Amino acid sequence: MPRIVGDWTLDKLKIIEQYLPAYLTATYKASERVYIDAFAGPGRNEIKGSGNIVNGSPLIALNARSAAGKVFDRLYFIELDKTDADELETSLVGRDPHRRAEVIRGDVNTELPRLLGRISPRSPTFVFLDPEGIDPEWETIEALAASQTELLINFPLGMAINRNPDSAKVTKYFGTEAWRPLWEAGSLRASRLLALYKERLSDLGYVHQVEDSRLVKAEGNRRLYYLIFVSKVPVAQRIMRSVFKQPDAAGQPRMNLFPEGQ
Ligand SMILES: C[S@@+](CC[C@H](N)C(=O)[O-])C[C@H]1O[C@@H](n2cnc3c(N)ncnc32)[C@H](O)[C@@H]1O
Repeated sequence: MPRIVGDWTLDKLKIIEQYLPAYLTATYKASERVYIDAFAGPGRNEIKGSGNIVNGSPLIALNARSAAGKVFDRLYFIELDKTDADELETSLVGRDPHRRAEVIRGDVNTELPRLLGRISPRSPTFVFLDPEGIDPEWETIEALAASQTELLINFPLGMAINRNPDSAKVTKYFGTEAWRPLWEAGSLRASRLLALYKERLSDLGYVHQVEDSRLVKAEGNRRLYYLIFVSKVPVAQRIMRSVFKQPDAAGQPRMNLFPEGQ
């Protein structure tokens, strides 16, 4: 069964679809290129309302190809839910003749650090972290920083933290208690928490960030998640900045996350 999603998902998928071929071009000299989907899902999505079926991020990455024909040499799809992992493996049948992809069943905070032991720290590795909540623990992000990784992170903070502000889970997510006073202060909460997360990413060496991280809105203009892109190389930042400037999946200009002064 494909995952049923709102049409705002198309926007996130479009960003991945536009960026990955450029990533494969930029890393053409490397001996291998690796893709990790840390919250992979079942592989295909059904758009609520229209019933259209579209590829999810794992299949988009599997199909990604640079203009010169480079593809990811290895792809790892981590998925906790058994039904989704089964579905994803079924989706790969016939689509992955060279067996580049592997589905890893389990929790990202266990499986991702373990997986890194199988990848050379010098291999360019693109990691998409697309949770529904605040699942990736800071220690997992720290483990990624030792390798030549760049990260696209779905940052669903607003809803997740508002639902459960006292949770120890939030502290594990940020890897610090520093989120508490920002949350308690109330005003400008979302922008300050986002700034804290980005600052911590910068401390890990991900100094090239797309500053105008995107706010993706769901139905009813509810804030749903932010997309944060971080890299250790300036060219990646330039490319992602131009991708973020493209119209969204509905052909509309994307909105500034925090208008000036907020
Ligand atoms: C938003 S969906 C991913 C959608 C996918 N990126 C796409 O574009 O089609 C998040 C997925 O993460 C899985 N998940 C949730 N918690 C997880 C965890 N701790 N470790 C690994 N996977 C997890 C869920 O089962 C769900 O399939």
